[in-house]
Amino acid sequence: MSRLDSFIRRLSAQRACLDAAIAAVGAREGFVLEIGLGNGRTYDHLREAMLGRAIHVFDRQINAHPDCVPDESHLFLGDFRETLPEAARRLGRGAILIHADIGSGDASASRGLGRTIAPLVAALAAPGAWILSDQPLPLPEDADGWRPAGLPPGVEAERYHLYQVREE
Ligand SMILES: C[S@@+](CC[C@H](N)C(=O)[O-])C[C@H]1O[C@@H](n2cnc3c(N)ncnc32)[C@H](O)[C@@H]1O
Repeated sequence: MSRLDSFIRRLSAQRACLDAAIAAVGAREGFVLEIGLGNGRTYDHLREAMLGRAIHVFDRQINAHPDCVPDESHLFLGDFRETLPEAARRLGRGAILIHADIGSGDASASRGLGRTIAPLVAALAAPGAWILSDQPLPLPEDADGWRPAGLPPGVEAERYHLYQVREE
């Protein structure tokens, strides 16, 4: 597969998973987390589809399109390993949709980062929340965690990762 095909498939899978999670959340209460602002593309998609929701955004730097920069009160700037615990202290377990798009060119480091942030993300997830990520977000088996959810039609396994947190 050419790199162009692979890129298009990755973004198609990302959009399909975002749309599936948005539909599954529906009108349920809770805020949204965008972990990895990057260029701001997926933030913009979430913001357009989830009008009126608070979306809290995480990145170590602002590199987004100027139209896709959240206001300061919704921005956690710094390393995820520090800003996610800070967000958990400030916001609590109220996120109903969490999107983590954290990958870099280094596949092994990206997977490691997914493993590191999984429990930090779990501390922010409301019961019944939907979590999606470009990296696996494994939780220890004894954690009050989430279960993998089925991917939307056309999305190959491992291309994206979708989970739902247990209801209480
Ligand atoms: C793949 S990009 C996000 C793309 C974005 N979702 C979009 O649609 O434009 C990943 C982002 O994660 C950020 N990032 C990676 N590791 C990080 C870390 N440990 N702490 C904070 N930000 C990090 C990078 O700065 C980068 O902007």
